[in-house]
Amino acid sequence: MTATTAAQAADIVAALLFIFSLAGLSQHRTSRAGVAYGIGGMALALVATVVVAARDVSTGAVLLIVLATAVGGSVGLWRAHKVEMTQMPELIAVLHSLVGLAAVLVGWNSYLEVEAHGAEQTRIASELLRIHHAEVFIGIFIGAVTFTGSIIAFLKLSARIKSRPLTLPGKNALNLGALAAFVALTVWFAVSPSLGLMIAVTVLALALGWHLVASIGGGDMPVVVSMLNSYSGWAAAAAGFLLDNNLLIVTGALVGSSGAYLSYVMCKAMNRSFISVIAGGFGIEAAPSGDAEQGEHRETSAEETAELLENATSVIITPGYGMAVAQAQHPVAELTAALRERGVTVRFGVHPVAGRLPGHMNVLLAEARVPYDVVLEMDEINDDFAGTTVVLVIGANDTVNPAAQEDPASPIAGMPVLRVWEAENVIVFKRSMSSGYAGVQNPLFFRENSRMLFGDAKQSVEGILRALSATDTGSAASRPGPRTSEQPSHA
Ligand code: TAP
Repeated sequence: MTATTAAQAADIVAALLFIFSLAGLSQHRTSRAGVAYGIGGMALALVATVVVAARDVSTGAVLLIVLATAVGGSVGLWRAHKVEMTQMPELIAVLHSLVGLAAVLVGWNSYLEVEAHGAEQTRIASELLRIHHAEVFIGIFIGAVTFTGSIIAFLKLSARIKSRPLTLPGKNALNLGALAAFVALTVWFAVSPSLGLMIAVTVLALALGWHLVASIGGGDMPVVVSMLNSYSGWAAAAAGFLLDNNLLIVTGALVGSSGAYLSYVMCKAMNRSFISVIAGGFGIEAAPSGDAEQGEHRETSAEETAELLENATSVIITPGYGMAVAQAQHPVAELTAALRERGVTVRFGVHPVAGRLPGHMNVLLAEARVPYDVVLEMDEINDDFAGTTVVLVIGANDTVNPAAQEDPASPIAGMPVLRVWEAENVIVFKRSMSSGYAGVQNPLFFRENSRMLFGDAKQSVEGILRALSATDTGSAASRPGPRTSEQPSHA
């Protein structure tokens, strides 16, 4: 078997491993195996690529490839070890930007190579040259949109810039105009390629990527991250065509289509128009700010909350991003166990986009060993709030905001939310009155049946646990001891 045939066989096996990986990652139970398949596929793909490259380039160049792989791999390992769960979407956004940048560089390199050596020497048949030119343009365009879009997503997710949508006048016309200009430039470039057109398409796509993501509001960011995931896949597939690398085409198409499907599923969960979100908030106009005067809020303490919980028959806990920040999942699991021991029914209501990445809350609750059967999805629990004694909103904000249902002008209008306000009592755990991720005020905090429990969520839950055990000790002390002859029975 020649090195080329072996490398082709390795490509097929690696592609299959990537498919197994996606299948494994779709379920909790099989997710570890899914990760292992992905690592195996990527290792195989890297070795096969280096072996094939080694035939055409000098030993020095192969050493450079190995060195670059070692440096990249080490940085990746270091970041993966250091990253907090809450920073995961930011990290993903940065990684997508690198895929986009790589596609732009591959496109530029491919153009410059044809310019320097002519089509014959670069093994491109002359009748395919125009198609090659179009591929260069498409690869650069998708790559550059992914690059700047991912950087803006990173800046928004890490709160380095405001998450509010940018609303330039005529923003939809700007996006559509950029697309039309891209099509015209591609035709022009295919007929008569030039450096000026290469620069023009790169600048146009960089600006479009920036504008598309800057125009999307904070509440839609999860969809943006998965959409950029999809774009980065298509950028890799485009690079695969230019590099004549089948594995890159297959892998890019897998990432591109699965990312697009995930974006679609998320849009359905958030009642957002898929087309509107991927087109940079197309059709969504600037909404008036929801910072209108809301009234007075009332505060409570850990002790009062403990008393309320002890006397409750049913409790629902709705966790959000703040639970992840405070790392409150372990005391929350303890509180659940303590209340269940007292005969209180405790369940969890998990919103599909609570936290900062899909499944964020489920992962934290599973880590703290909260039983799976009491963790319910939003649709499973939403009708039960009305018959519930106490709801504990632990670090959630946008996902329990009634404005999404009641205020058509709200930036999160139409997003399905947990209807916590229908319960008898709502206790909101947070540190201040500040808004959540989407940057909008929450009228829940000012409702008659709501109380704010200010402070770090972990410390607040620990305070409740202390108060509960104090009442246990107190009631044990006040319970009558064993009867003696001096203590006559009143029975
Ligand atoms: P958010 O609306 O982000 O609100 C979290 C709240 O937690 C904040 O209001 C904050 O208030 C509080 N908090 C932060 N640290 C805390 C701490 N140590 N102790 C107590 N409270 C703390 O949360 P959510 O309801 O989970 O909504 C998620 C939002 O993120 C949605 O808008 C969603 O669209 C977006 N998003 C989701 C994803 C995915 S896929 N899940 C990805 C990206 C973005 P204080 O500062 O006053 O404490």
